[in-house]
Amino acid sequence: MRNVTKDTLTDTFLGYFGDQTDPRLREIMESLAKHLHAFALETELTHKEWEKGLDILRQAGNITTPERDEFVLLSDVLGMSSLVDMINSSEAGTSSSVLGPFHISNAPEKDMGTDLRGDYSGELILVEGRVLDTSGQPIKGATLDLWQTAPNGLYSSQDPEQDTYSFHALFTTGDDGRYYFTTVRPVCYTVPSDGPVGEILNATGRHPWRPSHLHYIVKASGFKSLVTEVFPEGDPYLDQDTVFGVRSDLVMNYESQSASSFPKSGFELSGKVNEDYSRVAFDVVLKSE
Ligand code: BEZ
Ligand code: FE
Repeated sequence: MRNVTKDTLTDTFLGYFGDQTDPRLREIMESLAKHLHAFALETELTHKEWEKGLDILRQAGNITTPERDEFVLLSDVLGMSSLVDMINSSEAGTSSSVLGPFHISNAPEKDMGTDLRGDYSGELILVEGRVLDTSGQPIKGATLDLWQTAPNGLYSSQDPEQDTYSFHALFTTGDDGRYYFTTVRPVCYTVPSDGPVGEILNATGRHPWRPSHLHYIVKASGFKSLVTEVFPEGDPYLDQDTVFGVRSDLVMNYESQSASSFPKSGFELSGKVNEDYSRVAFDVVLKSE
């Protein structure tokens, strides 16, 4: 079409697609174009405003490195990561939640009962649970890839003071499907806000905080892999997670326990705990493939 107008541009755009276009790509691009054009029309977007949007993307590109992906963060704070997650999850099994940008591959294999806290100070927690199928049977040979922040609120990849794999571990379940370890209570922390995403949060009066959490990736042969997180009941940011990751089945009680109740065996810290600690029980239910 030659005389393209506001009213005909979307249809003109859709008409430019080649006959051989993959049908799913066509469906996605058609919907994207319709909503994007409708957004500009509805808001009567100015040149300056559109240029600002492009500049945000440009800045995101400039700041992105293999260790820090500002586009993932943008997707997270816009709610897109969680929305795509929800669209692709079914009712059965443990809810999934955002992966975030701080997972690192090849976490070291650890024995059950390992202590991840080491010399760090902070409340000791004992985390335990089982990996189960949807009928409640334990899954043998499931791997749990776990990671969290240090008590300073930083992941190892953000903090030159930490070892590469500090607060990262990989556990493999035995016949009973159980996993258990000790660590330090995770803390609430802020997502990186020194880039364009921080600018968006700031300009829209949003805070950058996430409730404290432990990250899990759980895999087992014959089951769908699960990316999820566990949050403590009572965390001040549970109802205002800046990346929309909280689901009610992922919120657990941190049950306060006396030092004398710490298991006498089976843990690296057995026989060495002189302080009260908290117990976190979290079973993971995987869906069949
Ligand atoms: C995280 O939980 O590690 C995270 C998730 C989304 C954005 C930033 C951090
Ligand atoms: Fe996190």
